[in-house]
Amino acid sequence: MPNTFLSFAKINLSLEILGRRPDGYHELRTVFQTINLCDQIEIEVTATPDIVLTCDSPDVPCDGHNLVVRAAQALQSAVGTRQGARIHLRKQIPMQAGLGGGSSNAAVALLALQQLWDVQLPQDELHGIAARLGADVPFFLTGGTALGLGRGDRIYPLLDAELPFIVLVHPGVSVPTGPVFHRLNMGLTNATTVHTLPSSLPVGFDWRQVGNALEAVVFEDFPVVRQACDRLRAWGALLARMSGSGSVVFGLFADAATSEAARQAGLAAGWRCWVCRSVGRAAYAQLMHRAYTVGRGKLHRGN
Ligand code: C5P
Repeated sequence: MPNTFLSFAKINLSLEILGRRPDGYHELRTVFQTINLCDQIEIEVTATPDIVLTCDSPDVPCDGHNLVVRAAQALQSAVGTRQGARIHLRKQIPMQAGLGGGSSNAAVALLALQQLWDVQLPQDELHGIAARLGADVPFFLTGGTALGLGRGDRIYPLLDAELPFIVLVHPGVSVPTGPVFHRLNMGLTNATTVHTLPSSLPVGFDWRQVGNALEAVVFEDFPVVRQACDRLRAWGALLARMSGSGSVVFGLFADAATSEAARQAGLAAGWRCWVCRSVGRAAYAQLMHRAYTVGRGKLHRGN
């Protein structure tokens, strides 16, 4: 009987680019937020060391390129276990959408396999593995509302943002992250500048007043993304913004009725739409754990 884990998506409430780094990445200041759109990851431990991944979506590669497989293999070699896993991924989070689906899957695989293999790495080692897998992966070890600095991989938990109803619109295009950053064409950051807390967080910083610096590039290449953002405002969003490098845009709505009306309007425009709520840090940890315990024992014992 497999154990089932939830793997939540994120949005970037704000995203600033502070410069281009000598390693080719960009120095960011972003506010991440987990939301309740999620994939499910079913895991069965095996006595042989193979990591076998399957997925209900034919678009997802299940070979060694998949971040879940790479996460499992990295943990395996770090802790030196001979155990393996059969993993099945049920996808709901759209890909190349700025919602961090693959990164979330990788982080949840690390946390889940630590439990199932009964191994534990020191926090900084686990964080190191996560950061090598991708810049967004470390955030999903923590969840809730958090500031991301550096490549977005240095995570500072913030107080949970009080967010109303969140409407996501997927405007029908996929946007790969790398080319968006390359198009920014920024100067190199001063190698001596180290962006750390608290110096990199101005007094009175408010993500509501800060946009997403990647919007300009994406709006130019994919006008439909800007259009979706404008529509969200016309449908009553208090704030509408692109998440990450897109293509998904999100709108914050004051109440359930206006958010549902916006979702219906988005569907009528031919777009995929969701009404979501934020997932705070405590709930994030608890929900993943509860999913684990339900999948692990109850059904099995009850039958
Ligand atoms: O780390 P990840 O594989 O998610 O990043 C995808 C690409 O996005 C990188 O190869 C890089 O080109 C770009 N990127 C960047 N600066 C960041 C994060 C990502 O330039 N902070």
